[in-house]
Amino acid sequence: MQKYYLTTPIYYVNDKPHIGHAYTTILADTIARYRVLLGEEPILLTGLDEHGLKVQQAAEKNGKSPKDHCDDMAPAFVNLWKKLNIKYSDFIRTTEERHTTVVQKILDEVHKNGDIYIDEYEGWYSVSEERFITEKELDSGEFGQVKKIKEKNYFFKMSKYQTQLIKKIESDELLIQPVSRKNEVLGFLRNELSDLCISRPKSRLEWGIELPFDKDYVTYVWFDALINYISAIGAFKNTENFKKLWPADVHLIGKDILTTHSVYWPTMLLSLNIPLPKRIFAHGWWLTDNEKMSKSLGNVVSPLLLVDDFGVDAVRYYLMSEMVLGMDATFSSESFEKKYNSDLANDFGNLVSRVSTLINNNFDSKIPIPSTMESDLAKNYKKIILKDKLDNLEIDKVINSTMTFIRSINVFMEKNEPWKLVKEDKNKAGNILFHCAEALRLSSILLSPVMPSKSEDILQILGTKEKSLVWGKIKPSSSITLSKPIFPRIN
Ligand code: ME8
Ligand code: MG
Repeated sequence: MQKYYLTTPIYYVNDKPHIGHAYTTILADTIARYRVLLGEEPILLTGLDEHGLKVQQAAEKNGKSPKDHCDDMAPAFVNLWKKLNIKYSDFIRTTEERHTTVVQKILDEVHKNGDIYIDEYEGWYSVSEERFITEKELDSGEFGQVKKIKEKNYFFKMSKYQTQLIKKIESDELLIQPVSRKNEVLGFLRNELSDLCISRPKSRLEWGIELPFDKDYVTYVWFDALINYISAIGAFKNTENFKKLWPADVHLIGKDILTTHSVYWPTMLLSLNIPLPKRIFAHGWWLTDNEKMSKSLGNVVSPLLLVDDFGVDAVRYYLMSEMVLGMDATFSSESFEKKYNSDLANDFGNLVSRVSTLINNNFDSKIPIPSTMESDLAKNYKKIILKDKLDNLEIDKVINSTMTFIRSINVFMEKNEPWKLVKEDKNKAGNILFHCAEALRLSSILLSPVMPSKSEDILQILGTKEKSLVWGKIKPSSSITLSKPIFPRIN
């Protein structure tokens, strides 16, 4: 089976997860489930970024050791992913030995091949970004708390790979999407790239992976974290598995971490002579009141509360359909309720009730026998292009075209009026309802990666387990069941 290796960022454990983290993780899970529909085997990696200053500070604030703090925080993520029905293949924590040993191995390799040197450096340091920033960045004023620091540190010769990297990005050998982000990276690379400071003296930061060649230093958190994408799949250890899965098909990230993924990470891999990931996709931000939803701004929406109120599939549906992939989107409970009521309660849910009730009342609860496999619905269905959209990760477009198809089932019902027709020509009415039921089966399957459990519920109502994406596979004479509304209206 064709493997599809995709990753989410590994999230900082300085605070609880919010809608932004939930979004990327649900997106990854949805993409993975669509790959299953296409007959592939997805491998989805997610996890936690546990080292660095932010985590050390959060632990201090809670009066705990950093490791205890991480152990206390990890379940908040694991439990949320469970609640959100995320099916990951692996969950990596950067404090695990399987990760730290690979980071040290890589540091040794890069040191030996001459790409790491020690130097004294004086510059502006951003606490929130956990890195030295350039004068230009300092002038932008976007980096919050900054301080001037002068110290001896180890540097990675990132600049050495600038030309090579530009070529790989320009040629799409390393595909950066959307194209606006690719241009942003290429713009950044038009300036001379500096080398990357990859160490922190223990006197300033203790919570990190010790440098294998200097025990007075720990590894810079980004140099450590990015390696998770290969340590988790057995780089330098289980080479068989690594060969099978690397290069990754896609690293999904938010646009806040574009530079680390598109510049730091590929140059690290170039130094190691390891192929680059095939694609980096940076999505936009969830905003509240036009500001980025973020832990530091304290304007976050809790995914758990939403799930408790409206159910997991409704939350997944809203997040996946409301954000046009690559663009920012604004979160509000009004837009949530509006979308839920119009798409799910009205268009989809009501239709399921209508069709199943008509079959129940007039056809003894059995899927009627069709007189033909041709219909307007069959035609509309065949117009839905899945593969191309999925290859472009355009999940919102896949949802949109499915919703358009669902609306066309409603139009088809209004046009053919099976509730009237059944009194004049029962076979004809049965044929219409067969086509509606089949269209609903396929709609449920097309939306199953977004709403796994509601889709199962609808298939159960339709009395079918058939998952084929080929038109006409629902079995005539099989028994349907009636149920409470699948998507009760929110008032
Ligand atoms: O950056 N809208 O972790 P992090 C959309 N540990 N997505 C959002 C978001 C928002 N308002 N806020 C966060 C880190 N995200 C590093 C990553 S990877 C090797 C290391 C999502 O906890 C989005 O995916 O700050 C973003 O890139 C990520 O969470 C940042 O999570
Ligand atoms: Mg962040």
